[in-house]
Amino acid sequence: MSRIAYVNGQYVPHAQAGVHIEDRGYQFADGVYEVCEVRGGHLVDERRHMARLVRSLGEIRIRLPMSLTALGIVLRETVRRNRVRDGLVYLQVTRGVARRDHYFPDPSTSPAIVVTARASDPAKADALAGQGIAVITVPENRWERVDIKTVGLLPNVLAKQAAKEAGAREAWFVDRDGRITEGGSTNAWIVTGEGRLITRHADNAILRGVTRTVMMEVAEKLQLRVEERAFTVAEALAAKEAFVTSATNFATPVVRIDGQPIGDGKPGRVARALRETFHQVAEIAP
Ligand code: PDD
Repeated sequence: MSRIAYVNGQYVPHAQAGVHIEDRGYQFADGVYEVCEVRGGHLVDERRHMARLVRSLGEIRIRLPMSLTALGIVLRETVRRNRVRDGLVYLQVTRGVARRDHYFPDPSTSPAIVVTARASDPAKADALAGQGIAVITVPENRWERVDIKTVGLLPNVLAKQAAKEAGAREAWFVDRDGRITEGGSTNAWIVTGEGRLITRHADNAILRGVTRTVMMEVAEKLQLRVEERAFTVAEALAAKEAFVTSATNFATPVVRIDGQPIGDGKPGRVARALRETFHQVAEIAP
């Protein structure tokens, strides 16, 4: 079956889908994106992803080129045309096409919008979570507004590639004070010896993950206490458990950090319980 992409008002074969060479996303990474899980053909936490999209766009002063209702229809249509039951839908909005010049283009320039959808195998993701993942730590070298979900992800790409080359799956950024901010494409969590969940407070130094927000509700349902604060690498190494969250990972246990086992070196009970309960709490749209 051939894949279909939505590009600026048209559904086109994925293999031929393209944007102009002077799209500002291509020239300057001048755009934002969202990744939303698709489960059983339905969008997961669409409302929160759209709210974050609107916020990201507002922070960099790009207007959404269509209504949220219309966008919801495009997301669903892209999922449907690609026959995705389980997987993800990707959405990107850039400042549009204009002669290369750092200043914003003329206000009449239309923002560009691309939507793609891709299937993934839930059994594979569950198998990975059953094994747990390794992470490495890397110095934080991103800009100070990573709360905006921009497509400018070069430090994340380099950090994740370094993780891969070290036999790990994720890289955790560590700020100058030795505190973990977040992963290259996930939020970072630990579970203390007393069973408390710790994840960094959502300031400008992390992306406020939708999964992170929903996981707070999951924790409440499971009567687990959450502390939103920075934690150090030393605390993470001494933790009972660690895990990461994102729209495509839900909660995935971390079993090694920089080669050192966390807890007993196996996926922890808390991370497993959070993962199993996640979709009872997440909003699954019709
Ligand atoms: N990544 N932090 C970063 C830097 C991220 O890129 C992401 C998401 C998250 C988790 O956010 P959420 O729970 O809303 O998915 C945290 C997406 C999945 C990606 O880039 O593919």
